[in-house]
Amino acid sequence: MKTKQTIAIIGATGNMGSAIAKNLSQGNYRLLLCARNHDKLYTLAQEIMEGNLTTDVDVLDCTMNASWEADLIIMAVPYHEEKEIAEKIRQVATQKIVVSISNPLNETYNGLTTAPDTSAAEELQKLLPNSKIVKAFSTIFAADFASPVIGGKQADAFVAGNDPEALQTVSELVQATGFNPIIAGNLSVSRTLENMTVLLIQLTMKYNYNWLAGWKVLHH
Ligand SMILES: NC(=O)c1ccc[n+]([C@@H]2O[C@H](COP(=O)([O-])OP(=O)(O)OC[C@H]3O[C@@H](n4cnc5c(N)ncnc54)[C@H](OP(=O)(O)O)[C@@H]3O)[C@@H](O)[C@H]2O)c1
Repeated sequence: MKTKQTIAIIGATGNMGSAIAKNLSQGNYRLLLCARNHDKLYTLAQEIMEGNLTTDVDVLDCTMNASWEADLIIMAVPYHEEKEIAEKIRQVATQKIVVSISNPLNETYNGLTTAPDTSAAEELQKLLPNSKIVKAFSTIFAADFASPVIGGKQADAFVAGNDPEALQTVSELVQATGFNPIIAGNLSVSRTLENMTVLLIQLTMKYNYNWLAGWKVLHH
């Protein structure tokens, strides 16, 4: 059996953070739940432990301590919070994988606030130059985690980054949450992935998919 990895989820009480935490709690991981609201964190930890009594889960309200203890950090916060958090964790996240799940959506959800020649993931890489940023989980909706098989097909979850080993590690993490990981390319592919989510959001609103929608690449 592989050694248990410690995963810090910053923004663990949010829609995405809590969905990722709940699904990962079924796997061989130690989870560090991190956010600012302590009460919500303890409620989530309780809920997770009720779902799996053997889960290894801890609550930490300090992003720096959580990131220091972690092997891998998932940044599950709104895009505009990332700069401040990156400044707090820069030293302790050195050489670690930091997962960027963010879609920097505009107010009307029909575009991104980032310039076309960059992405949230690439901006996070600039803020954390000594960490291995990997894009993942951005192309799926929080509601999908309760059932990653949609319409009889397992939803794909695209992964992008520059470090081959980090891509492999994050693909395994994605798989552990129930989705089919597809390594899509280097970190700049995040520009496409973040725009794919804009399209998926537009489609879900237009056709009332009820936020239960995902991408699937059909192939031989
Ligand atoms: N929702 C989706 O379906 C979806 C899908 C794909 C990607 N995403 C991306 O996932 C990210 C999170 O989205 P969400 O919908 O889960 O947001 P959300 O429900 O608003 O949750 C945000 C989380 O971040 C925490 N947080 C905010 N500022 C923080 C700070 N400075 N330090 C520590 N924790 C902080 C919040 O808890 P406290 O306020 O207690 O700190 C909360 O746990 C976004 O970047 C979004 O683009 C979302």
